[in-house]
Amino acid sequence: MAPTVDAKARETEIDLLERAREVLPAGSFGNIALDLIIKEGHAGRVRDMSGNEYVDFLLGSGPMFIGHAHPDVTAAVQAQIPLGTTFFASNEAGIALAEDICAAMACADKLRYVSTGSEATLYAMRIARAHRKRDKILKFEGGYHGMSDYSLMSLAPKTLANYPQSDPSSAGIPARVRDEMLIAPFNDLDTVRSLISEYAEDLAGVIAEPFQRLIPPKPGFLEGLREITAEHGIPLIFDEIVTGFRFSYGGAQEFYGVTPDMCTLGKIIGGGFPLAAVVGSEELMSHFDAAAVDPDGFLPQIGTLSGNPVAAVAGRATLEVLRRPGAYERVNETGQRLMDGLAKALGDAGVAGQVVGVPPLFDVFFSDEPIVDYRATLRADTAKAKIFNDALRANGVLKGDSKFYVSLAHTDDDIALTLNAFSIAAKAVANA
Ligand SMILES: Cc1ncc(COP(=O)(O)O)c(C=O)c1O
Repeated sequence: MAPTVDAKARETEIDLLERAREVLPAGSFGNIALDLIIKEGHAGRVRDMSGNEYVDFLLGSGPMFIGHAHPDVTAAVQAQIPLGTTFFASNEAGIALAEDICAAMACADKLRYVSTGSEATLYAMRIARAHRKRDKILKFEGGYHGMSDYSLMSLAPKTLANYPQSDPSSAGIPARVRDEMLIAPFNDLDTVRSLISEYAEDLAGVIAEPFQRLIPPKPGFLEGLREITAEHGIPLIFDEIVTGFRFSYGGAQEFYGVTPDMCTLGKIIGGGFPLAAVVGSEELMSHFDAAAVDPDGFLPQIGTLSGNPVAAVAGRATLEVLRRPGAYERVNETGQRLMDGLAKALGDAGVAGQVVGVPPLFDVFFSDEPIVDYRATLRADTAKAKIFNDALRANGVLKGDSKFYVSLAHTDDDIALTLNAFSIAAKAVANA
């Protein structure tokens, strides 16, 4: 399928892009810079204002795991809306979704809702500090936990300092935050072990993406991390905002068989609406309960839209679809076909690139060396990645700069179209 542009519709789209530049910094919402406006999404495809249709691997940056406008999610939301859209007080859907999540996640005795993943990780780190009565958090270089001052340390450091020195990846972060975050290399258990041993007395917690961006953990890495943190009584937080209900119903903790003390969830659990959560052991989550802890261990936490009933019914409907027999088998099969097809297209075109990730979430790195940590990702060829992504888009495939998110709704036709686009895009890279 070549994009089919309706000239008049394209004019309207360009006009809207110009209007955006008048009122939005950089003309965008800050998320992804595209010269198109998405008009609608159905199942595994989206359509822009010009009328071009794309097989969608952006998936709203991950929430739309069962596809856009899934009829069960739409029906649940349509049933809730006439009953009221937010109350600030407990509601049945929010409680029922919390039950579903606590039943699914091995680390979850209790749950607290927030609206975004950034808030979830902020509170998880704060709970660790309240619990340990210490300030420092260890995170991994290149690990993404959202937009708080703490999470933005060494997300994309400008200078590659010696570990555990942190570096702010945004302007506007107070200088002293640098001292509160320790940075370690992902997948390097020896360095992590020695840092945790050295700083154990000052450490409140460790936060990690169990699958960091696109980098799978080496065998034994998560197990080792679990062991070292447990040895020192330091809470281990898995940021499962991407992996939760995606790698398996029980998240990366089930997929890799390593249970943290807390995890953060977002994306899929809101079914395409703003909802995220921090979940964890009874003991850690008790810091949110003034009656359960000393006043100096209490952590007040309020959010206007927390547990929003529309988001909760959408999340429940999504999880219900995922519990159906064969759901994960199907996503994995789709993703595997795409990963294999991508590797073949690169090989056929004689392009040095490697497909990294797992079937529900992967991408290509134009690099020969193993992608084991953030520093290895820096040595991949981003100019080639741009040529590849642009060629995919010109041939009806939409993705983010650095990820293919696969959905349950992608069809054989979507796969066939994508495999064809892979072969064209790989040749474009070879000829560049
Ligand atoms: C691993 C991880 N943590 C946290 C976040 C932040 O979530 P949100 O964008 O909902 O604030 C994201 C968002 O992509 C994420 O991928």
